[in-house]
Formats: sequence, structure tokens, C-alpha cells
Amino acid sequence: MLISVIGTGYLGATHAAGMAELGHDVVGVDVDTVKIETLNGGHAPFYEPELDDLLAKHLATGKLRFTTDFAAAAEADVHFVCVGTPQRSDGLAADMTFVQSAFDQLAPHLRRPAVVAGKSTVPVGTAAELASRLTKLSPGGSDIELAWNPEFLREGHAVADTMRPDRLVFGVTSDRAEAVLREVYAGAIEAGTPVVVTDLPTAELVKVSANAFLATKISFINAIAEICEVVGADVTKVADAIGHDDRIGRKFLNAGVGFGGGCLPKDIRAFMARAGELGASHALTFLSEVDAINLRRRERAAEVALELAGGSLIGKRIAVLGAAFKPHSDDVRDSPALNIAGRLHLQGAHVAVYDPKAADSASKIFPTLEYAESVVDACRRADVVLHLVEWPEFAQIDPSELGEVVAQRALLDGKNCLDAERWREAGWTYRGLGRP
Ligand code: UDX
Repeated sequence: MLISVIGTGYLGATHAAGMAELGHDVVGVDVDTVKIETLNGGHAPFYEPELDDLLAKHLATGKLRFTTDFAAAAEADVHFVCVGTPQRSDGLAADMTFVQSAFDQLAPHLRRPAVVAGKSTVPVGTAAELASRLTKLSPGGSDIELAWNPEFLREGHAVADTMRPDRLVFGVTSDRAEAVLREVYAGAIEAGTPVVVTDLPTAELVKVSANAFLATKISFINAIAEICEVVGADVTKVADAIGHDDRIGRKFLNAGVGFGGGCLPKDIRAFMARAGELGASHALTFLSEVDAINLRRRERAAEVALELAGGSLIGKRIAVLGAAFKPHSDDVRDSPALNIAGRLHLQGAHVAVYDPKAADSASKIFPTLEYAESVVDACRRADVVLHLVEWPEFAQIDPSELGEVVAQRALLDGKNCLDAERWREAGWTYRGLGRP
């Protein structure tokens, strides 16, 4: 099939490469010329494991190309809209400018029967509005159908999640649209991926509900961590024990500095805003508590750092291990690590950050921090070391060796995943979040 992908950010670039890998001919379209040139050179404009290889492979086979020209999408059978829906600068709601502009720029080129499948995370009800806009603006009129096909990929695992999704959700208004989407994903469906076929609003809701649930699960365990801190209990053991109950499950029960990134925080806020517009704000007021618990964890991490520094940060050296919002990514959007690093810097500390991939993106939004080239460089003469992102190389640190370069052996493990006993045996004061 001939496929267009509109918007080539984290989601779109990966989806375009994934569609080519599934055997389709793909054109990726974006308004950002630098992004398009980078992609045509075989590189993603961000770090995502396996993606550069897949891009290079299919640019070479000729199955994949990128352009800024929307006319290049005209002949496609399916158009996937993958543009971002960030939080609006003036409130909690999603900024729909990019989605609207993508539809407005694509529609005039659509003359032949096609399915336009939205993948962006949008407020429920958006698809129905876009469907009528599409019919009005497309020369193909009612031959152009709108479907909603939400995406669940996790940054850092985006290629695997695209090639082997947990489930496929097809929000459609006709059998034809369902058949077209089944053809697009035939390989994954044959390999056993379950398909849920539904209407447009249900498909939109699946995505925001999934992210709201994940955020709630993380904030739940972080709330328990707050209680653990009061009574001296260990939240990691609580998570292990309740996680054995397969109705609960152990995944997404890692307490620590909380969730960040370009999805969970803004998605729960946009969901609350939408519920308010629909006159149902009461249904989601709990998400405001989920958000508050999450943000309190960043404050708590900064408090523990202050305690470890002896009660004042002025003139103290803090080493921060990790800047991305999660490992295997260079994305620093709403990163807890960078937020905590910034707070400590503003309270007078000298903060040296090391992240294996995210130093460039972090230094753009926080240029006043020092960005070190290695763990050792960041930790040299540090009064406190903060472990804030669980990059695998941090688990390999030898606490005795690192102890030789720091001024004081004081560690906050903000992800509760280093070997506490090993660090303590090497003479470190080890503090976790929600554990003794
Ligand atoms: C998320 C959803 O998982 C994905 O399905 C959706 O498509 C986009 O949003 P992503 O933002 O890439 O994906 O990251 P995810 O792996 O969900 O992690 C989100 C945040 O939660 C990270 O900051 C992570 O460190 C944090 N987290 C995750 C925890 O604090 N504890 C956990 O137990 C799990």
C-alpha cells in the first residue's frame, strides 16, 4: 500500500519507518525542513534505539522518503496523522493547532478514495469534528474517510512497540475503513496482535484512558511511598508484594521521582480539561490528585538532597545522573530529573549533570547547569550524588571507585533501583524515596 505519515516527530518518524518495514511504500511529510533533511540523511532528529538503522534501511530500499510537500501524499491509500498535541500555554487543555493545520494542509490534495487515520492523542470528540472538516475541504468529498488509530508506543521502545504492538485499536465508521486498516497491519495481525474495532470517540478515549491509568498507577505507589517515609517502611517491598497479585501486577509500580515526558503529564491534564468542557469534571477530579502526588515527588527529592547536603545548598556541588525523562531517550520534556536539577541550582548549588544521550536537549532548556562528559566528571568533588534516571550504565557504577572522586559519599537514589546494601557497604549514605 502507499502510505503517508503527516508529522515526523517521535511518533511519526517511527511509524513511517515501521510501515516501510511492514512492506508499504511510505512518504513522511513535515513542515520542518531541518527535520526532513535529517530524516532523509538516515537519522532521526532525536535518540531512539534501532530507529536510525530502520530509516537507513528503507531510505536505501526506496520504500521510504521524507518531504515538506503535502502534494507528495496525494496518491496514498492511507494517511496517518501523527502531529503533536502539547499542553496549551494558557491552560490545561491540549493545543490542537498542529492537528488542525495538518488536516487543513492535507485535505486539498485528497482526490481519490483514502482513509485518513488520526494517531495523535486528542480530546474525545475531536475525530467527529475533523471528519466533517475533511469531507468539506477534500476534493474527494465523502470518498475520504476518517478513522482513529491511537498509538501506544513508549519512547525508548518505539520501534519494538510499532512492529509488535500489544493491541491495535481501529476507531472507524465503516467496514471499508476497518478493512483498509486491517490490510495496513496485516503482518502484525497475522502474528497475533489483538484488534479492537470501535467507534471514533471510544478509540480516542482508549488512548487517554490508558495513559490516565498508567499515571494513576505510578502516583498510587508514590502516595504509598509518602506513607512509607513517615513510618520507615519500604515501598519497593510493598510494590513487590502487591505486584505478585496478578490483578495488580508489578509493572508501573516503581516509586521514585515520578512520571514525566511528553505524554503522561499533559495527557492527564488535557483529559481533565476535556471532562470539564463536557460537563463531567467530577469524573476526573482524582487526576488532579494524581498530578499533585507526582509533582510532590520532585519537591521531596530536592528536600532529601538538601538534607544530604547538610541543610544548605549554597556553594554545594551536586552531581545529577540522568537528565532525560526516562532511560533510552534524549527527551527532556517535563523531565523530573531536569526539574530537580534546576531547583537545586536555583537554591544556590553548583549542579553538574551527566546523561548518556540527553545533554544536548537538556542544555537547550537549562543552559545554566554544567553538563559533564561522564559519571566521574559529574561526580568529581560532589557533596551529593543524585541518581534520577535508570540508565543501565548507572547500575554498573562501582560505589567504592566513585567514592574516591566525591567530596562526600552521599547518594539519593531517586529511582530506588541501585543496590542499597552495596553502596552502604562502600561507605555511602544511601537514601531512596519511600524506603529506609
Ligand atoms: C507513555 C505510555 O506508556 C505510552 O503507551 C504512550 O503511548 C505514551 O506515553 P512514555 O511517555 O514513552 O509512554 O513513557 P513511559 O514508559 O510510560 O514512562 C512515563 C514516565 O513514567 C517516565 O518518566 C517513567 O520514568 C515513569 N515511570 C514509569 C515511573 O515513575 N514508574 C514506573 O513504574 C513506570
